[in-house]
Amino acid sequence: MSLPNLAIDPARLWDTIMDTAKIGGTAKGGIKRLTLTELDAEVRRWFIAACEEAGCTVTIDDMGNIFARRPGRDNSLPPIAIGSHLDTQPTGGKYDGIIGVLSGLELLRTLRDAGYETTHPIEVIDWTNEEGSRFAPAMLSSGVFGGQFTRDWAYAREDRDGVRFGDALTEIGFVGEEPCGQHPLAAHFELHIEQGPILEAEDRVIGVVTGVQGMRWYEVTVTGNDSHAGSTPMPLRHDALLAAARMIEAVHQIAIRNAPDAVGTVGLIEARPNSRNVIPGEVFFTVDFRHPDDAVLASMEQALHAALSGIAEASAVTHAVSCIWNSPAVRFDAECIGAVRHAAEQGGFPHRDIISGAGHDSAYVAAVAPTSMIFVPCARGISHNELESAEPEHVAAGANVLLQAVLAMDSTLVERARA
Ligand code: GLV
Ligand code: MN
Ligand code: MN
Repeated sequence: MSLPNLAIDPARLWDTIMDTAKIGGTAKGGIKRLTLTELDAEVRRWFIAACEEAGCTVTIDDMGNIFARRPGRDNSLPPIAIGSHLDTQPTGGKYDGIIGVLSGLELLRTLRDAGYETTHPIEVIDWTNEEGSRFAPAMLSSGVFGGQFTRDWAYAREDRDGVRFGDALTEIGFVGEEPCGQHPLAAHFELHIEQGPILEAEDRVIGVVTGVQGMRWYEVTVTGNDSHAGSTPMPLRHDALLAAARMIEAVHQIAIRNAPDAVGTVGLIEARPNSRNVIPGEVFFTVDFRHPDDAVLASMEQALHAALSGIAEASAVTHAVSCIWNSPAVRFDAECIGAVRHAAEQGGFPHRDIISGAGHDSAYVAAVAPTSMIFVPCARGISHNELESAEPEHVAAGANVLLQAVLAMDSTLVERARA
C-alpha cells in the first residue's frame, strides 16, 4: 500500500515538547509532574486548550482520561486513537509518555493544516497515572479502561500519605462524566522512547513493538523490634532493616538466576522510626519483577516467598508480603504491528522488532482494541531519570511512522468494511 504524502512538522513538535517540559521542569533538565498534582492539572488544561485549538472536541471519563477527538468523514465509526501519558516519575525525563501524547497533538495539527480528512475520527488520549509512582499500580486508568480493574478499586488506591486516588482526582477537577471503558476504539497506537539501550546500540531509528513483558509488583513489611542502638547486644536484636537488606540482595539474586531476560528491583524503602540511634523495628519495601514469560515470573514469585521466609526466620523478624499487581505479558495486534513496520519501511527508517521492558498503557488497551507501539531510541537507554534524552530527528521519525500507521489503519478498516 502506498502511503499519503504527508509529514509532521518536526520543529513544531520539538518546540511543543520543550515548552510543556517547563510545567514541573527540574533544575537538572527533567520533569517532576506526579499524577493528580496541580502540575498534572496544569499540563492537562494546556493539553485540552491545544487540542481544541487544533479542531478537537474534548471529553473526560471518570478516571480522568482525556480524549481529544478530531471528526472523520463517518463519525458513527469508533475513533483510531493515539494515547500515552503526561505524568512523570519524581525524577522523570522530558520524553517518557510525553512524546506519545504530544506527537498525537502534532498529528492533529498536521491533518488540520493539510485539510486531510480521515474516515474514522482520530482521538488523542492522555491516560491518567501511567507511572504508578504516586498511586500503585502503574497504568491504573488504562487498566480500568481495559477491564483489568474496577473504577472503585482504583479510586481506593492510596499514595504514601494516605490520599485516595479518587479524592486526588476530584481535587484537581478531572472526574469526567463518561464511565471509564465505555468508549470503543477502532485501534490504538502509542509512540514512546525505548527506555532501553537496544535501538541505539544497533543504530536503528524505529522499534516495531510486538508486545510488553509481564510485570509483578509486591509490597513487603518486615517487623522486628525498635530498640536502643547503644545498649542492645548484637545477638539480642530484631533488626528489621538488616533483614530487609538481606531480602533486597535475595531479590537481586532471583533476577540474576533467571537472566538474561529477568529483572528485579527494590525501588522504594521506608525504615521506621528512621532515627540513627534506634534499631529499626519496621521496614516497608517494594519489589518489581519483570520477564517476558509469565511462567518464569511465577517461579520467581515462588523463589521470593521462599527467600523472604528463610531470611525472616534467620534474622529473628516476621514479615508479610503481598502481590499487589500482576500484569501478564502482552502480544500486540498483528495488523497494527504490520502497519507500523510498513510505515517504518516506507519512511526508509532502520528498524527492528522489539519487546517492551517497560509497562505502557497500550498493554491494557490491547485487551479491548487492536493496539501496537512504536519505539524511538533514547541516549544510552537511560529513562526514569532527569537526564533522559532523545534526538529531535528520532522523535520526528517516530511521529511520522505514527502518522502513516494511523492513516494506513484508517484505509485498511474502511476497505475491509466495504469488501
Ligand atoms: C512504567 O513506567 C513502568 O514500566 O514501570
Ligand atoms: Mn511511559
Ligand atoms: Mn515511565
